[in-house]
Amino acid sequence: MTDLVIITGASGGLGLALSRSVPFPARIIDISRSGPPESSGIEHLQADLTNVAGWDDLIEEIVSIVGKEKPDRAVFIHNAGTLRPIGFSGEVARVEYEKNVILNSAAGQVLGNGFLEAVHGLEGTFDVVMITSGAASKAYPGWSAYGAGKAALEHWVRNVGAEQQIRGGVRLAAIAPGVLDTAMQAQIREQSEEDFPDVGRFRDLHQDDRLTSPEVAASKLWKVLESGFESGTILDLRSI
Ligand SMILES: NC(=O)c1ccc[n+]([C@@H]2O[C@H](COP(=O)([O-])OP(=O)(O)OC[C@H]3O[C@@H](n4cnc5c(N)ncnc54)[C@H](OP(=O)(O)O)[C@@H]3O)[C@@H](O)[C@H]2O)c1
Repeated sequence: MTDLVIITGASGGLGLALSRSVPFPARIIDISRSGPPESSGIEHLQADLTNVAGWDDLIEEIVSIVGKEKPDRAVFIHNAGTLRPIGFSGEVARVEYEKNVILNSAAGQVLGNGFLEAVHGLEGTFDVVMITSGAASKAYPGWSAYGAGKAALEHWVRNVGAEQQIRGGVRLAAIAPGVLDTAMQAQIREQSEEDFPDVGRFRDLHQDDRLTSPEVAASKLWKVLESGFESGTILDLRSI
């Protein structure tokens, strides 16, 4: 019996920080394209989550791992996300826009559903966390599919959280980490004002040294999970 933590996008940024700071002994598995550094000791399931045709095999793998380990505690965190393509709808590359919708909105719901299937009927403490963003509720011109994807994840958490309060007992949360010092922020700062009119705000936050380190956000997130929360919670780490 081994506890489990499965994190999408743990090859870098917040996902890697989360996987390096798991506060209980566990088998830790990353799902991403490139994988965590070998020295991290974190397992890697290689997947491009925009490839919908690969989702079923990936979920089968998760079901099989959970079935084998029969964990007392398991956590699934959908952290993988992308801002690409940054720009106004109708002006950006169509295939990239499709991939944005698939990764930010659909993948989290489908893999989250797969994890619930995997732990269904098991005794233990099981958590599903969707990493969200302030962009779920505030309009940012240039981030339409990203913001809509995060809003979809939040509403999925509200609905499935309510279901799990009726039966199942899995705890669900959507957690916004704050503005983090990661590759995603570096990408934001490189944008033109034409594609992303709010770019100045993010350049200022960086210049004023006001970005949160992914390690600080990860530590806060684990504290939330370890101290307990109501299923269906939507939370911004900046408020704690
Ligand atoms: N940074 C911020 O200020 C901020 C603010 C609010 C919310 N967030 C959210 O926090 C989460 C982590 O962001 P971050 O800043 O750590 O981003 P990041 O440094 O860009 O890392 C993104 C992660 O997602 C994975 N990923 C991207 N596309 C993928 C794909 N097609 N298939 C599988 N994995 C994929 C990447 O792995 P591979 O490239 O190896 O596939 C990487 O591990 C995201 O959900 C983001 O929306 C970030």
